[in-house]
Amino acid sequence: MSENALKSIKITELKPGMYVHQIEEQSGKVQIKSKGRVTSQAIVDSLRKRGVKILTVDVSKQFEPEGQSLPDIVDEPSASASSTEQQVDHKPAEEKISFSKELLRAERLHKRGKGIQKQLLNAVKKGLPFEDKIPREFSQNLVASIDRNPDALVCLTKIREKDDYLLEHSLNVAILLAHFGRFLEMSDAEVEDLAYSGFLHDIGKIRIPDSILHKPGRLDDMEMNVMKDHVYYGVRVLEDMGIAPHLVRTVSEHHERLDGYGYPAGSRGDEISRAGRMLAVVDMYDALTADRCYKDGMPSQKALQILLAETPDKLDAELVQLFIKCMGIYPVGSLVKLSNERLAMVVEQTASAVAPKVKVFYSLRGNHFLEPKDVDLSSTTTVKIDKPALASEYNINFNGFFDKSIAI
Ligand SMILES: [Fe+2]
Repeated sequence: MSENALKSIKITELKPGMYVHQIEEQSGKVQIKSKGRVTSQAIVDSLRKRGVKILTVDVSKQFEPEGQSLPDIVDEPSASASSTEQQVDHKPAEEKISFSKELLRAERLHKRGKGIQKQLLNAVKKGLPFEDKIPREFSQNLVASIDRNPDALVCLTKIREKDDYLLEHSLNVAILLAHFGRFLEMSDAEVEDLAYSGFLHDIGKIRIPDSILHKPGRLDDMEMNVMKDHVYYGVRVLEDMGIAPHLVRTVSEHHERLDGYGYPAGSRGDEISRAGRMLAVVDMYDALTADRCYKDGMPSQKALQILLAETPDKLDAELVQLFIKCMGIYPVGSLVKLSNERLAMVVEQTASAVAPKVKVFYSLRGNHFLEPKDVDLSSTTTVKIDKPALASEYNINFNGFFDKSIAI
């Protein structure tokens, strides 16, 4: 190989079809393989997200990139290879499947996500090390489920246990962010990053005293100042775990607001990354709709109105509009009262924003559960949605019913 075939470029100049000779400069602790063909955009994204900044390409080995069926990086034996190297596996596109088929898998994944979150929080609380690989892989599986059928996991974000707020909130934010990222047609790497940042975003809360973290009702100014430190603690924990800097940045920005009145940095406008703005929107939405031990969550429609009211000063107006489009007027998993005095759960969006597919499960006339029945409201004129509903308004144990009768 002639020396002048080697060229030093920035990561922003790297394209599929190039041959990476070596990594010259990178941040973060994860060392990556230094040689290989860049066969897809996913490789470029992956190198960027792992903190690669400058690299050397061998222009004599430039090639015509083919379809996505090629492995992402073709290895060459390298003297610098070490046991800490990681390789990005080729990920085949997930096949779309039905809501009911995905639901069982999604339920297992949801349960596992809560378990991992619990272990992670316990480890952080005790100052023990926790491998980044476990939540990272979980986030990838979460995105795979979203790709097979987003409605299954999104529906599960509505099934909450009041005492598990911290676990469920982080998991739900990861699910909704992945769904939102896919809706915006972001790349695999970007969507996985979003899910991962969502999953980790409130990890610092475990260092906040329980008396403040679980206080029913509003925090006073002093307590609020303590609570705000969760972002600082979270960033420290993630840096210690060796999480890539751009992910730490996303997490650090989830309470920043466009007008500069957020925290901890008081960043304004474009100083806040797009991923950070997306996380802020989804974090607020999930917090508003969550049932807590001291209050019921609000219906999705009301939460979406509140997000709108926070634009353009606090939240990104364009992103909020897109998030509303992504979730729909009647989000999957939300309950609705029908014109025939029955309650139903939204299970799928249709071409009509006001007439989704629903599962009818409760009679308000007889005050009893029904055998769940699927109805596509967009293909019937005899019944329509009367209004959004909350299980608590009608004093019914929807979670128990969901476990026994719907998620089977
Ligand atoms: Fe937070």
